[in-house]
Amino acid sequence: MATLSLENLVKIYNGKQIVNSVNMKIENNSVVGLLGPNGAGKTTTFYMTIGMIKPDKGQVFLDEEDITTYPIAGIDPLAVIDIKNIISHLKNRGIGILISDHNVRETLEACDKAFILNDGEIIESGPLEKIVSSETARRIYLGDEFKL
Ligand SMILES: Nc1ncnc2c1ncn2[C@@H]1O[C@H](COP(=O)(O)OP(=O)(O)OP(=O)(O)O)[C@@H](O)[C@H]1O
Ligand SMILES: [Mg+2]
Repeated sequence: MATLSLENLVKIYNGKQIVNSVNMKIENNSVVGLLGPNGAGKTTTFYMTIGMIKPDKGQVFLDEEDITTYPIAGIDPLAVIDIKNIISHLKNRGIGILISDHNVRETLEACDKAFILNDGEIIESGPLEKIVSSETARRIYLGDEFKL
């Protein structure tokens, strides 16, 4: 069992803290969503996770190994159905996956758990039922009408 850990990741642009000490654990054989409103810091968090940009503070570990600056290649866009098939295939092979997308329903349905980011901070995390029933997640991101 390998674990990808984001530890206290911080990114500052133009003096503003865009990602504010984010912590996440992503285990292999699990699918984890990274969601939140526009400008929440999802892409910045994701880029730090894969080594495309360097955090101002914090580290990324794969188990005990510090991988904070290892670049991982980007992936071309594919249709949702292809991505879903790929996700389940990778998961079945024991590989952990972090997904970030604006298609909330499709993303949540593909995930075992998710993190909701707002203003650079995690405002909710956990399994889907917890996210969907969270007052905070509904107020800030999902909206009152949201159902899976
Ligand atoms: N290279 C950069 N220089 C300055 N500000 C940046 C840079 N990249 C991102 N930002 C700012 O950081 C904040 C978070 O951006 P980010 O792209 O991580 O958000 P996001 O959650 O991915 O948003 P979206 O849902 O629109 O994709 C935004 O206010 C954005 O303007
Ligand atoms: Mg983005």
